[in-house]
Amino acid sequence: MAELNEIKIFAPATVANVSCGFDVLGFCLDTVGDEMIVRMSPEKGVRITKIAGSDLPLETHKNVAGVSAMALLETLNPNCGFEIEIYKNIKPGSGIGSSAASAAGSVFAINELLGRPLNKTQLTAYAMKGEALASQCEHADNIAPCIFGGFTLVKGVKPLEILELPTPSHLFATIIHPQIEIKTSEARAILPKEIPLSNAIEQWANVGSLVHALHTSNYNLLSASLKDIIVEPYRKQLIPEFDTLKSKTLEAGALGVGISGSGPSIFALCNGETLADKVAETMYSVYQKSGIDFNIHISPINKQGIKVI
Ligand code: HSE
Repeated sequence: MAELNEIKIFAPATVANVSCGFDVLGFCLDTVGDEMIVRMSPEKGVRITKIAGSDLPLETHKNVAGVSAMALLETLNPNCGFEIEIYKNIKPGSGIGSSAASAAGSVFAINELLGRPLNKTQLTAYAMKGEALASQCEHADNIAPCIFGGFTLVKGVKPLEILELPTPSHLFATIIHPQIEIKTSEARAILPKEIPLSNAIEQWANVGSLVHALHTSNYNLLSASLKDIIVEPYRKQLIPEFDTLKSKTLEAGALGVGISGSGPSIFALCNGETLADKVAETMYSVYQKSGIDFNIHISPINKQGIKVI
């Protein structure tokens, strides 16, 4: 059989934080993501040969996919190089894991081409090097669900430990992406360095009960746990119509609504596709009055994560 020297992959969008789980929880989307083609080349190193759909740098050291791939090659030191083509469907600064998809995509594809020497946790660690370029800090709550699929919890980063959580079967996500850009680094800079103990207690109780709700497919508990009293109060000011959109979509029957990652996208989790459609209509009717362009995505939770296509 001829050796595989080129691969095409789908790197899905993701929702990080999931309201209460800042920097630790995330889930994977199915209907939106980037595509990448990665091929082996005789010349060592990493070259980004094409980027379609976005105005991102081609220079390897300035591109998250290039940085994560270089970090991986430093360790593996294969006797070849790699060329990367990136077809971006996830807009940078959208809050649904654009940089994570690129950073994860290059390391996943190279690992496949080299016969899978690394496991998913190791790939997550290398992808974090690329993500750090975009957000100025290493966190894995977008990368982990992109690579593992489903819901993930980042138990720790030093050492890196990812827990895969179960996905209740009727869960759908509706996402609205207002076409404004929020830089993750800026959305992190406005957060307080310290928080009151009473807030921390409420938040970690919600993280624990959200994890329990996922394990038991308890949609009522899931709904009661999707609250963020620590980060959302600061970041929502960056997102026009956030409060109106949240209250209307909850009225329409969403289990919970929150900021996706560092925004501006807003996610709703819904019990069933019919409700996810209804929530999308509600989001549409609120946002069409805002004068801001937007996209809406409806997606089941993607249990597989990043894949070869
Ligand atoms: N947990 C990160 C944040 C996700 O909210 O800043 C965005 O990269």
